[in-house]
Amino acid sequence: MQQPYDYRGKVVFIAGGTSGINLGVAQAFAQAGAAVTMMSRSQDKVDAAVAELKTHGSAVYGVTVDVRDYATTDAALKSAAAALGKFDVLISGAAGNFPAPALGMSANAFKSVVDIDLLGTYHVLRAAFPLLNKPGASIINISAPQAFIPMEFQIHVCAAKAGVDMCTRVAAMEWGPAGVRVNSVTPGPIAGTEGIKRLAPNDATSELVKDSVPLGHFGTPHDIAQACLWLSSPLARYVTGVVLPVDGGWSLGGVSSSAAGMKKAFASAGKPAPAKG
Ligand code: NAP
Ligand code: COA
Repeated sequence: MQQPYDYRGKVVFIAGGTSGINLGVAQAFAQAGAAVTMMSRSQDKVDAAVAELKTHGSAVYGVTVDVRDYATTDAALKSAAAALGKFDVLISGAAGNFPAPALGMSANAFKSVVDIDLLGTYHVLRAAFPLLNKPGASIINISAPQAFIPMEFQIHVCAAKAGVDMCTRVAAMEWGPAGVRVNSVTPGPIAGTEGIKRLAPNDATSELVKDSVPLGHFGTPHDIAQACLWLSSPLARYVTGVVLPVDGGWSLGGVSSSAAGMKKAFASAGKPAPAKG
């Protein structure tokens, strides 16, 4: 397929860009000619993602870091900018999730997810701003429907991602005058990803989710990547502060009905699934 976007000469940084949706986003930017830098906690995942992304012919740099720690996140972003140049596009998508009732998780379990998703997003935005090649720079936070649709067994993610979308809106207001656009992309259920494996771990829950999507099927990382390519391009130069669902219409109502089914499935299993890890 002909590549409709040209990111040659641009540098993209992707926090949590080593698997799933975010790796799909990284691949799409690399295929469009961008130099791609990315980070996550696992050295093995970083090494594998760097090797894969290099096959697209772009410059690639990976760094291992936990977004929960500001000092090392700041240092990681600086090392990426030193390696490949200031960033034209920043994608912040590191996240953690597991289904558990509010009373079935410890205070530390709640904190772990809020620390990764919300604090981590702030850390990445805070550290990246001085390293953006502004004006014209684009920031995208990868959010989730839980940000605006309450879902049982997801109190930690709902709280964290709601905060992420507010970071998007406030940063869009504060950084607009510098020519920096800030938006959220909200994926629907994306096939084959860790996130959907955790929330719909068997055929029954998976069918339930699929049937609750108006377009009738799961999305792919490619679908999310296309939205990111457009949002970061000059075609979207007047778009900032939006929360853009890319979800086959799931958030129009289906999220709630599939969440009810998931709740039943987890409850009948006797304990929330899957186990930690
Ligand atoms: P995933 O493959 O597990 O991606 C998460 C990424 O974040 C991985 O690269 C992971 O790598 C990294 N990460 C996790 N904790 C980290 C930390 N503390 N510090 C640095 N990096 C960290 O999951 P996914 O399902 O594709 O989800 C990607 C994004 O899409 C998330 O923001 C998620 O909330 C959102 N989303 C997903 C779906 C879905 O259907 N999957 C739906 C809505 C929204 P390491 O393990 O190496 O750290
Ligand atoms: N139910 C209840 N509590 C759980 C849980 C579950 N399924 N899984 C983990 N926890 C708790 C742990 O017991 C621990 O609490 P404790 O210290 O009181 O025992 C707390 O969460 C932190 O777990 P730990 O494994 O030490 O954290 P971590 O920092 O290594 O991992 C997670 C963070 C828990 C979010 C882990 O699932 C992860 O790394 N996820 C990244 C991948 C992912 O979730 N992808 C999907 C993105 S949508």
